[in-house]
Amino acid sequence: MSIRLPRGTQDILPGDVEKWQLIEKKAREICEKFQYHEIRTPIFEQTDLFLRSVGDTTDIVQKEMYTFDDRGGRSLTLRPEGTASTVRSFVEHKMFGYANQPVKLYYMGPMFRYERPQAGRYRQFVQFGVEAIGSDDPAIDAEVIALAMSLYKEMGLKKLKLVVNSLGDKDSRQAHREALINHFQPRIGEFCSDCQNRLEKNPMRILDCKQDRDHELMKFAPSIIDYLNEESKVYFNKVQQYLTSLGIEFEVDSNLVRGLDYYNHTAFEIMSDAEGFGAITTLCGGGRYNGLTEEIGGPEAPGIGFALSIERFIAALDAEKVELPLNNGIDCYIVSLGEDAKDYTVGLLNKLRQAGFSAERDYLDRKIKAQFKAADRLQAKFVAILGDDELKANKINLKSMDSGEQKEMELASFIEEFTALYRN
Ligand code: HAM
Repeated sequence: MSIRLPRGTQDILPGDVEKWQLIEKKAREICEKFQYHEIRTPIFEQTDLFLRSVGDTTDIVQKEMYTFDDRGGRSLTLRPEGTASTVRSFVEHKMFGYANQPVKLYYMGPMFRYERPQAGRYRQFVQFGVEAIGSDDPAIDAEVIALAMSLYKEMGLKKLKLVVNSLGDKDSRQAHREALINHFQPRIGEFCSDCQNRLEKNPMRILDCKQDRDHELMKFAPSIIDYLNEESKVYFNKVQQYLTSLGIEFEVDSNLVRGLDYYNHTAFEIMSDAEGFGAITTLCGGGRYNGLTEEIGGPEAPGIGFALSIERFIAALDAEKVELPLNNGIDCYIVSLGEDAKDYTVGLLNKLRQAGFSAERDYLDRKIKAQFKAADRLQAKFVAILGDDELKANKINLKSMDSGEQKEMELASFIEEFTALYRN
């Protein structure tokens, strides 16, 4: 048996990788505009980090982490998400002391979850995420959501649905927690063993259970929205007010709970509404995580962020059939005829590239017709044709593949003439 790539992973090949690069470039541009700065953290972290932040009753921690002991006996985990590492780094590097607050960070890189692979769900996937740490102004919640929406829209997505909810503050959550326990306790025996464990530890997680989601008790489970205290309500209203003033459409969904434990107040997801997008429609998820810095051993610093995967982003672009400005074709292909001419094109090609053009030549000793075919495949804008005879006469022919026009140029001044013509 030949060796194949691991289940749930993909190779991103030339032809596809350009889409990735385009999204990555756009994400960086938008972060620059919104003033978020890149942070790069390790791909593995101490396992405890995720237990404390993502939460030990979540599916991610219980079932999906790639955890291993290194040779020194330390338990390490391939990061399943980026918030924990970013907040760990914020605390470790005392970014709470930076003059500019909140600290606005972004990251892009692979995350790892041992999930059942299917369309849009991988075991290694790339997240782009942002985190704004150090402010609990609801305007920053709106900014974070606006950043994600701008990225999708600027890439050409139209069929988007933004769903927001509030998970409230500590007191609201405590009241909700008690209501959930009262609701589920009498019939908890009908639920899966995970849910039975969650009842006391973290009953909100029951709402997130994939196995029991059709149980009748789920339908009328107490909703957090009915347990928000005044402060939480005011906060949530402000976020909605700001979103409206930014012209961002949204729906409130009181069932949106998110699959990670660190959230409170604002929680949101952006889905694709595109036809044929498939079962998994969530493109982006995020929310507020006041209290997480303390959990990781730092001082209080309220935060909010989101993450989206490039894989699902591309799936949404494909589902909406968005045409991306991808392959523009190369600037010049050099066709040669004869041994001396062939030798000469080695240097000529280099000069074209040094002058800033994308250029290519033949490396397979192909006949002239096949060289032209290669130029077509590369969508060359121009083809420069050099034969031994032209070389002797110090000439070269340049053909515009657009107009079909051909022009003879002096070989000595070819780069200058080509540049002038190209810029025209
Ligand atoms: P999450 O909802 O677990 O949140 O993941 C965010 C996004 O990552 C999802 O909406 C989806 O686009 C993508 N994603 C997750 N799992 C997979 C997978 N197996 N295959 C492909 N894409 C996937 C978080 O990770 C939080 N850290 C987000 C956040 C940042 N909250 C605050 N700051």
